[in-house]
Amino acid sequence: MNLEKQTQRTAIITGSTRGIGKETALLLLQKGLNVIISSRSQDNVENIIEEILDKFPSKKENILGLKCDVSKHSEVKTLVNVSVKRFGSIDILVNNAGIVYYKSIINTTEEEWNKTIDTNLKGSFLFIKELLPYMIENKSGGIIINVSSGAGKSGFPNLSAYCASKFGIIGLTEGVAQEVANNNVKVIAICPGGVDTKMIKDIVKAGYIPSNKDLMKAQEVAKKIYDMIFNQKDYYNGQSIEFYNK
Ligand SMILES: NC(=O)c1ccc[n+]([C@@H]2O[C@H](COP(=O)([O-])OP(=O)(O)OC[C@H]3O[C@@H](n4cnc5c(N)ncnc54)[C@H](OP(=O)(O)O)[C@@H]3O)[C@@H](O)[C@H]2O)c1
Repeated sequence: MNLEKQTQRTAIITGSTRGIGKETALLLLQKGLNVIISSRSQDNVENIIEEILDKFPSKKENILGLKCDVSKHSEVKTLVNVSVKRFGSIDILVNNAGIVYYKSIINTTEEEWNKTIDTNLKGSFLFIKELLPYMIENKSGGIIINVSSGAGKSGFPNLSAYCASKFGIIGLTEGVAQEVANNNVKVIAICPGGVDTKMIKDIVKAGYIPSNKDLMKAQEVAKKIYDMIFNQKDYYNGQSIEFYNK
């Protein structure tokens, strides 16, 4: 797949109303791609679209915003169908939506466990399941970036449910990569260290980790994701890229 030679590409970025997802969507939009922005909240989606169009009014035709809870199959199906109808084909999927509960495993409720796995792992499965047939059919191929975490490579206390979901993302990445090896589709995972977003700020606010922890900016992760999409020769199918502060 040679994305460099193509001009009008389209990307779905899940969980793109703030943090890493928002910065990735913004970067891709600025680089000339069509982007689909979504999250659980219609209000958040509308606000972010308004904010982006205030800055880049000429991009109106290149953005689509839709509420989509990644853990709900019907909403994932709708988002994929509406996106394909609007832009013709989807070339890039960034499975980014994620949540975390900072809790010991004993204090983690069944509901929190289910929500973590349903959002972080099942959500990625649902998007891959619904989008892959279009990518396989699309002769110019596709790329899927799954956002795992450093906590998808090593265990951390009070993050066991989160770790389970993020280790799972790596298994999903490796398995699907093998399934699509002959279909001109690439599947790669990114495993960032701490990033300065609401996710971490909430944990700091609760006093669980120190506020002076050295964090990366969401824009740095977005740039890395961009590189993974457009310099694919540097990455092999099924690879998990650890990405930490230099
Ligand atoms: N921050 C870090 O240190 C760090 C490090 C490594 C990996 N990551 C991973 O990076 C990804 C992005 O995290 P972030 O730090 O940018 O977090 P964030 O600022 O909390 O943003 C999370 C985004 O996901 C959306 N979201 C949450 N649950 C959703 C669901 N069920 N369906 C659809 N959208 C949903 C949120 O929007 P709504 O609330 O409007 O739904 C928001 O747009 C996550 O997968 C996270 O695990 C983060």
